[in-house]
Amino acid sequence: MSSMTLHLGDCREVLKTLSDKSIDLIYLDPPFLTQKIHCLSTRNGEKRYSFDDLWESHSEYVGFLMDRIREMHRLLKDTGSLFFHCNDQSSHLARFVLDELFGEKMFRSEIIWAYRRWSNSHKGLLPAHQTILFYSKTMAFTFNQLSTDYSASTNVDQILQKRERDHRGKSVYARDPKGVVIASGPKKGVPLSDVWEIPYLNPKAKERVGYPTQKPVLLLDRILSICSNPQDVVLDPFCGSGTTLVAAKMKGRRGIGIDCSKDAIELTRRRLADPIATRSRLLERGRENYVREDVQLLELLKGIEFHAVQRNRGVDAILKDEYRGRSVLIRIQRDGEPLDDAVKLLRKAGTGKGRPLLVLIATDPLFQQNTYGNEIVVIQSTTLALKTALESAILHDTSALPLFQRLA
Ligand SMILES: C[S@@+](CC[C@H](N)C(=O)[O-])C[C@H]1O[C@@H](n2cnc3c(N)ncnc32)[C@H](O)[C@@H]1O
Repeated sequence: MSSMTLHLGDCREVLKTLSDKSIDLIYLDPPFLTQKIHCLSTRNGEKRYSFDDLWESHSEYVGFLMDRIREMHRLLKDTGSLFFHCNDQSSHLARFVLDELFGEKMFRSEIIWAYRRWSNSHKGLLPAHQTILFYSKTMAFTFNQLSTDYSASTNVDQILQKRERDHRGKSVYARDPKGVVIASGPKKGVPLSDVWEIPYLNPKAKERVGYPTQKPVLLLDRILSICSNPQDVVLDPFCGSGTTLVAAKMKGRRGIGIDCSKDAIELTRRRLADPIATRSRLLERGRENYVREDVQLLELLKGIEFHAVQRNRGVDAILKDEYRGRSVLIRIQRDGEPLDDAVKLLRKAGTGKGRPLLVLIATDPLFQQNTYGNEIVVIQSTTLALKTALESAILHDTSALPLFQRLA
């Protein structure tokens, strides 16, 4: 059983009450120096959460961090690590504070959490990442190596053959005394890099609780996976809605959460009673696999100008040009998917989007032109049209049968 303790108050005071070298991992996501009051409401609008991120000066912010991180350093075990979440407005100051308190040599990585964003209302580059600074207390820090899939550009030789250094220190394929290449054995993939593509919580995500700047459980899950083990103690001194503790509970770690907001502590308590993490198809299958599948599907739309739509079960593409002032949404029937189901999903995707025209490309040989109303156009894919044409030819010429069977 993973035990969870929550404290209401300024973390500077609460941290002083905790014992030296009692914590395995600290994740902190303090105010980022945004000079804003962050507010957000729950989906049903019943509750509004907020916290202040207003500062007189950079030195006030640096002083705030110094006082608290000094305590955090004292609490960490020698095998422990700290992850500081910040953005481009505060990362330089956080780095300075952490170098001072942990020592430059204890800096391990600058992790870039990258995600996709769709809007850009201001002049300049679209901000699409945040930074997590990773420091260890000593060199004996806990570290579990994670691996990711090979990228599409990795060739089969690289995956299957063992490598070694030659006399000049150059990496070459290893060979036995007879000159035969040596197999590499089981392959785990590529070691996890410091750029993490993890989706930002979308407005409909199940785990979203309406707390401003809430982070995804999947992000914390990864941090906990690399630098902690079951039953370890994880501390979040600015826990907000309790994301770190939810991840800790789900992974069988013990947790301590602190926040100066009563609302945040109550919300964390509620989340811990029913921990939810939104799954990510992108993470489970990897971006490469995702793209590969889409490429296969969208092959059918070659020669047409469209925007591919990812992560939507109802629509695969939107034509770049409108048709008589209406957008055109396109979906391709999946293998083995009944046509009626495909129509239902496409129709749902088009609902409430300004009466778009809906086009379904049928790929099933059992395709029959049903009536779906004039808002949906169902057409045959080229492969299907070819098979249908051949079938009708066969009806008149049975000698063509073997050819058709090979195609089906
Ligand atoms: C960016 S939010 C954390 C969000 C959190 N990671 C989540 O996923 O919900 C920062 C939190 O720090 C809290 N906070 C600000 N100053 C604090 C302090 N001195 N001690 C403890 N908590 C503080 C705020 O109330 C707010 O909940």
